Amino acid sequence: MNLISELKAIQDRHGYLPDSELRAFSQRATIPLYQIQAVASFYPHFRLQPPPQFDLKVCRDLSCHMAGAQRLHRAIQQRTTTLTTYEINGVSCLGRCDQAPAVAINDTIYAGVTEQRFDELFSQFRRGEMPDPTMVQQGSTKFAIDPYPQQTDRFGALRSLLASKDVASVIQTLKDSGLRGMGGAGFPTGLKWEIVRNATGSEKYVVVNADESEPGTFKDRFLMEKFPHLLLEGVLLGAYVVGAHKAFIFLRHEYPAQEHVLEKALAEARAQGLMGSHIFGSDFSCEIELFISAGGYICGEETALLEALEGKRAEPRNKPPFPGTHGLWGKPTLINNVETLCMIPGILRRGADWFKSQGRNNNGLKYLGLSGHVQRPGVYEVPLGLPVEEFIQEYGGGVSAGKKLKAFSPGGASSGFLPASMSTIALDFQSLTQVGSMLGSGAVVALAEGTCMLDAALNVVTFFRNESCGKCVPCRVGSDKIVQILERATRGQAETNEIDLIGELAETMQLTSICGLGQAAPLPVTSALKYFGEEIMFHLTEKRCPEGVCFQGMRG
Ligand SMILES: Cc1cc2nc3c(=O)[nH]c(=O)nc-3n(C[C@H](O)[C@H](O)[C@H](O)COP(=O)(O)O)c2cc1C
Ligand code: SF4
Repeated sequence: MNLISELKAIQDRHGYLPDSELRAFSQRATIPLYQIQAVASFYPHFRLQPPPQFDLKVCRDLSCHMAGAQRLHRAIQQRTTTLTTYEINGVSCLGRCDQAPAVAINDTIYAGVTEQRFDELFSQFRRGEMPDPTMVQQGSTKFAIDPYPQQTDRFGALRSLLASKDVASVIQTLKDSGLRGMGGAGFPTGLKWEIVRNATGSEKYVVVNADESEPGTFKDRFLMEKFPHLLLEGVLLGAYVVGAHKAFIFLRHEYPAQEHVLEKALAEARAQGLMGSHIFGSDFSCEIELFISAGGYICGEETALLEALEGKRAEPRNKPPFPGTHGLWGKPTLINNVETLCMIPGILRRGADWFKSQGRNNNGLKYLGLSGHVQRPGVYEVPLGLPVEEFIQEYGGGVSAGKKLKAFSPGGASSGFLPASMSTIALDFQSLTQVGSMLGSGAVVALAEGTCMLDAALNVVTFFRNESCGKCVPCRVGSDKIVQILERATRGQAETNEIDLIGELAETMQLTSICGLGQAAPLPVTSALKYFGEEIMFHLTEKRCPEGVCFQGMRG
């Protein structure tokens, strides 16, 4: 029994977690009430009070912010003042950055919401209807990732492995391909699989990280919908190689369409003898379970994710030891990102050299989400090493409204900002690390001229402050201090020496935070100060915003 799943079941029945139900559950399950309350109060999806009739949430993170989410939030607030049965709040990234801004109405997420569209949607809700939230997946239409032209060829890499049992050659092929983890850290995949295979212990696990909650990041949403068979095959290959018989797919709860696709794919796989015991008639058995998260960006950090799977608060563990040797319930655990696993069948079918040849510098393929100020936001399959300017121009159709590029974030919120003058940089692991940034979560966000870089930096640091789990002081206090300084700066009220203090706070957070969230949180502002320092200081010295964005009561 997983505590989080039990709480979700209670919330599904009552719409929230009534105290009486928590007490009854505590007695039934002989779990101390304080332990249940500690978990219930951690996750943003859980409600401890009855919900209002209309629960409205406007995404406040970077791509939605740039698409006018604050204006939309205020407009919705004005429209609903006569209603007593509603609540309107900001919410962290809903993963619809390609069709911003996004709004959730009673937990159903709508993308590309204008004021007019909101009025239509809201009227339907008030009539008791539930409008269809389906959105079109925009982006590439041709894919090299799938090695199976026919549906009947699927799971060919797994069939070969079960016949040959040649685990060593799978690990060697992954090492030769140079495939690196696509979840953010870029750890070499072949090496990770080898570590878990060699870890002692007969009980091992495979975990798919499908939490994808970093602003600007939505490539895994696309991949799960288009290629669920590649994901399941990647999981089964991983399980066979490391010696696991149980796998979990940890999915964010804001992806109900993908949940449906995965459930269907799992049912089909079971019907075809691809799950359970004696897979394809072999001696290999494996079960795959879909676990729906109760929310929070921190759940994507691999050890926090494991805590959540164990039914606890998703607070990251101190590392080492790493999950490869001490993971789920202390057992060796292979954790990989959705995209990493989807790449593996193609690499094993076509070979390491084929994968490398797909990149500009013989370095492979990548999926990138493109959002912000571009004509054609979406998810694109690209050669690694593609220059940012080419990506924005050729794939994204250029900067929107005929404007010029001012800055870009090359790899999600954690990668900070780089100026347009650096847009010849190659989108690959090494090139971005060399300039103090990263390929990160595969999310390029384009910022057009007219964007205030202080406003953008404040927006991203606020996301990290809001999503900090609070376990360690440098992250919890440091991120809030930076937000306070930047908020005052947008009103021209910060002192120059406070801006200098940001550097000290950043250094402390980078050196002493337990996990990557606290370490990355200051990068949006330190990178903005490095490349757009004059623009930021202008707010303090001239008491106005050079782009006309701040000082207008725009910040909420
Ligand atoms: C705050 C934070 C959030 C993260 N979120 C995700 C996520 O949503 N998905 C993901 O695959 N990795 C995420 N990661 C990286 C994971 O910790 C881990 O490195 C990754 O899942 C390993 O898989 P890979 O080797 O295939 O990349 C996050 C890391 C941090 C520090
Ligand atoms: S760095 Fe932040 S998010 Fe990570 S453990 Fe510490 S408080 Fe939590």
